Amino acid sequence: MRTIAVIARKGGSGKTTVAVHLAIAAHLRGRRVLLADADPQRSSCEVLKGRREDGPGWAETSGPKLFALQVASQRSQVDALIIDTAAGAEDEVAHAIVLADLSLLVIRPTFLDFAAAIRTVDVMRRLHKPGLIVLNQAPTAREGIEPPAVKKAQEALRLMRLPVAPTILRARSAYQAAVECGRSAEELDPSGAASQEVAELWAFIERLTFGKCADRGLCA
Ligand SMILES: Nc1ncnc2c1ncn2[C@@H]1O[C@H](COP(=O)(O)OP(=O)(O)OP(=O)(O)O)[C@@H](O)[C@H]1O
Ligand SMILES: [Mg+2]
Repeated sequence: MRTIAVIARKGGSGKTTVAVHLAIAAHLRGRRVLLADADPQRSSCEVLKGRREDGPGWAETSGPKLFALQVASQRSQVDALIIDTAAGAEDEVAHAIVLADLSLLVIRPTFLDFAAAIRTVDVMRRLHKPGLIVLNQAPTAREGIEPPAVKKAQEALRLMRLPVAPTILRARSAYQAAVECGRSAEELDPSGAASQEVAELWAFIERLTFGKCADRGLCA
C-alpha cells in the first residue's frame, strides 16, 4: 500500500479538489483506494457522499488517528491511502507527512501561497520526507507561453529545490463542476483539458509511488 498526503498551509489552494481527483483517478485504473479526510470541514467526504457510481472508499479521521487508519487500510488490502488535510493545522498535517510515502504540496501561483509553502517545505525537509509540489489553479498558457504568474512561480520553485510535478493543473470550471456531483473531471468530460491534466498527474504520481524506484524516496 502507498500513502499519499495532500497538504498546504494556505486555505483554498485546492487540496480537496486534488485529493478527490487523484483518488478517483486511481480507482478508475483499478486501484483499491481509501480517501481519508483529516480536515474537520469534511469536504472530501461531502464530495464522495454525493457520488452515485462505484468509487473510492472514504473515512472521516484526524491527524492522531491516521496511524491506526493506515494500519487498518493495509490489513484490508487498500492499495492507495490518500489523505486530505486541513489548512493551517501544522501539528495535524505533520502526522500525515510522517506517514506518507509522498506528500503533495498544492499551491497556486501566488505570492501568499509561496510564503505559506516555505514553512511546509521546511517541515518536510526536517522530517526527511519526500514531497512534490503541484501547481494548481494556474492561468492557462497561450500558444505555449506561460503567463507571468506561472513563470514567476516556476522560477521560485527552482529556488526552493523541491521536485515539481510536470503537469500543472489550470483554473478550469470542469474541476468545480465535477466535484459538485461527486465525480472527477475525467468522468465528466473525458476528452476535456482537465481530464488530460488529471490523467497525466496521476500517471506521474503512480510511477513515483508504485514504480520501481519508489522505495528510494524523492527528496529531503
Ligand atoms: N484547478 C482548479 N480550477 C478551478 N477551480 C478550482 C481548482 N482547484 C480548486 N478549485 C476551486 O477552488 C476552491 C477551493 O478548492 P478546494 O476546496 O479544493 O481547496 P482546499 O485547499 O481543499 O480548501 P480548504 O483549505 O478550505 O480545505 C473550490 O471552490 C474549488 O472548486
Ligand atoms: Mg479542503
